[in-house]
Amino acid sequence: MNKLRDEFTIRLLTDSGIEKGMTVLDAGCGSGDLSVMASELVGDEGEVVGFDISENALAMARNRIEEKGLSVKFILADINELPEDIGTFDAIVGRRVLMYQRDAAQSIDSLLPHLTTNGKMIFQESDCMEASFCAQSMPLHTKVLAWMWDTVAKEGGNIHIGRQLYSLMKNAKLKISQMRAEAILHTYESGSDFAWAAKMMAPRMISHGVVSAEEMDVETLEDRLQSERRESDTPFIRDMAFGVCAEK
Ligand SMILES: C[S@@+](CC[C@H](N)C(=O)[O-])C[C@H]1O[C@@H](n2cnc3c(N)ncnc32)[C@H](O)[C@@H]1O
Repeated sequence: MNKLRDEFTIRLLTDSGIEKGMTVLDAGCGSGDLSVMASELVGDEGEVVGFDISENALAMARNRIEEKGLSVKFILADINELPEDIGTFDAIVGRRVLMYQRDAAQSIDSLLPHLTTNGKMIFQESDCMEASFCAQSMPLHTKVLAWMWDTVAKEGGNIHIGRQLYSLMKNAKLKISQMRAEAILHTYESGSDFAWAAKMMAPRMISHGVVSAEEMDVETLEDRLQSERRESDTPFIRDMAFGVCAEK
């Protein structure tokens, strides 16, 4: 669904040295995107375990893995209270999960005992970056992006976790080996998952009073966004992805 974000993730995992035979823990695996990528990189000789606090997300992840003929174990667990017997891993990976933690430093601390010596902690998180600076000719895109980030902020999410990753890893006494940020650009030609993502978030946006169902008008949103991309003919910063690999 978000091909450009996935490409960033795959490059981050590969450049960080995720390779055949490794054991990987996917923190806050959701419906398993990263678990799939990690599983393909470590191969049959390796092992991937994903955990999440949402049973629904885990059910989707299990289906995906089965369809793809891969082998990943999925567990119901909270990043802040991991069961001791979850084991230790050569790498712990996560994407867009620290942003939802009340205390990301504590979440990283809780992961550390499950990372082998010299193991790699690899996280990808977004940063709202006041991204509308690039979309002055795209008022609808600017507005939808603001609805999304306002919703995350109202739910207690950290909308600047991306830029904080570096310090979070250093404060956990980890040694940074990879650090990058990349704007994920959507254009008229590339199309966008923006309307899909807004639709998924619509109940949360509306319940937080960020936007009304009438203003959002979810059924026509994709058409209106695509028209705006065509008329403005500029790239839109859909996401500013930060990635870090830090070693124990
Ligand atoms: C935005 S989704 C990202 C999912 C996945 N990492 C990906 O990139 O596709 C965030 C996920 O983090 C999970 N999550 C949030 N807080 C968590 C916690 N305390 N422990 C475990 N998972 C958590 C949510 O249930 C959700 O599936």
